[in-house]
Amino acid sequence: MPELDAAKSGQFSIGGSITVNRLGFGAMRITGPGIWGPPEDREESIRTLKRVPELGINLIDTANSYGPDVSEELIREALHPYGSDMLIATKGGLTREGPNIWTPKGNPEHLIEEAKKSLKKLGVEQIDLWQLHRIDSDVDRSEQFDAIKSLIDQGIIRYAGLSEVSVEEIEAASKVFPVATVQNRYNLVARGSEDVLDYCEANKIGFIPWAPLASGDLAVEGSILDTIAREHGASPSQIALAWILKRSPVMLPIPGTSKVRHLEENVAGAAISLTEGEFDSLDEEGRKG
Ligand SMILES: NC(=O)c1ccc[n+]([C@@H]2O[C@H](COP(=O)([O-])OP(=O)(O)OC[C@H]3O[C@@H](n4cnc5c(N)ncnc54)[C@H](OP(=O)(O)O)[C@@H]3O)[C@@H](O)[C@H]2O)c1
Repeated sequence: MPELDAAKSGQFSIGGSITVNRLGFGAMRITGPGIWGPPEDREESIRTLKRVPELGINLIDTANSYGPDVSEELIREALHPYGSDMLIATKGGLTREGPNIWTPKGNPEHLIEEAKKSLKKLGVEQIDLWQLHRIDSDVDRSEQFDAIKSLIDQGIIRYAGLSEVSVEEIEAASKVFPVATVQNRYNLVARGSEDVLDYCEANKIGFIPWAPLASGDLAVEGSILDTIAREHGASPSQIALAWILKRSPVMLPIPGTSKVRHLEENVAGAAISLTEGEFDSLDEEGRKG
């Protein structure tokens, strides 16, 4: 195995049938400031995307709202035709009116239209994993779940996931379609979704933590995270990634970057093996944070 290889993060089967290396790539950062418009350094974003499969990463997370459209378009430009083992997961259900503005729009016709548009933007015959970016509280959730079932039934998408949801919402959606993945904010210090993670692990649902690298005040000099990082000759964010991967076998972190150097650092971080003692002390400190 080459030194930098996402396969070292372990494997997970999405929907029980598409096996990916657990370390994925988040393609939100290859857009402009406020996740709006083109990236400041387009060439470096393309180089970063091209490096993704070279490093063994075969799970890319994007959304039609990143840019909007910019992230899906750059993925296609850099990587199409995709390797047979590459899974590109996209999302729909949010509209954009400007930088950092995200508005849920969950009426069924709109969700179906957006998924069809992502299909064309990505240049695929079927989207392997499509995720509802947010449940729109202004639209009956069962209508949104029915729209997702219809996307699966029509073969537009193969598997479906949800984002920023509770256990109750996953259970409600599971009555309409099989929930393959859940994408909630989760990292060493953002632990509000522990119950959702445990539910996903018990039900073999992939848990995709967003903002996986964050470690807040834990990264300060002299902290446990800093000490463990120094002992491994690693950065605090690499240790945060190693910790999150050890937390659960269904964990599929998608650190996002627009830089080759950072991408390579993240792949190296995913190969770090923490002892049980290191894991536990980071866990304890993280919960306090
Ligand atoms: N479902 C949702 O609601 C939702 C919300 C937010 C994000 N997401 C998804 O989750 C992915 C990850 O989330 P995220 O991008 O917010 O958080 P993240 O991956 O934890 O952190 C990304 C930030 O860290 C920097 N970074 C990455 N690798 C680094 C390294 N090795 N050293 C130093 N800095 C590094 C990036 O900047 P550089 O570009 O400078 O490297 C970027 O500013 C996104 O790409 C997106 O696909 C989903």
